[in-house]
Amino acid sequence: MKDIENREDVILLVDTFYSNVLKDDKINYFFTDVAKLDFKKHMPRMYDFWESTLFHTAAYAGNTLRVHKDLNEKAPLEKEHFDIWIGRFKSTVDQLFEGTTAELAKQRAASIAMVMQLKVSGKPNGLL
Ligand code: HEM
Repeated sequence: MKDIENREDVILLVDTFYSNVLKDDKINYFFTDVAKLDFKKHMPRMYDFWESTLFHTAAYAGNTLRVHKDLNEKAPLEKEHFDIWIGRFKSTVDQLFEGTTAELAKQRAASIAMVMQLKVSGKPNGLL
């Protein structure tokens, strides 16, 4: 298995992760019913986010915290949802990649999820 090396790899990772998440009835409604996403617009933002997080080569200029705060006001984002999100993200990375950047992606996802959960819902998540 190879490591995450470029945008093409990021696209494979994000697409595979989303196809897993969208099959999961416990969290898919956030994407489909709550945010009613236009995936043609959303996916490139996710690619940019991960490319800039891992390689600093894309310009992601969004405010992820704000986006999830707004989401939480429409439908509560609970610990259970974060556990599912992070579990599926990690298993997707492990299914496809191996190496330093793959490890970094899982660490970044976990630490952002931890901070996001705390700031979005105002509730600690057992790790802090
Ligand atoms: C319970 C966990 C999560 C759920 C259900 C969730 C769901 C969503 C949804 C529905 C959107 C689209 C919002 C909109 O455009 O109206 C979104 C955007 C996004 N999410 Fe999450 N998310 C979760 C956790 C995370 C985590 C942990 C990260 C980062 C590691 C993340 C990164 C992003 C990014 C980068 C965007 C795009 C923001 C933008 O458009 O600029 N999400 N998320």
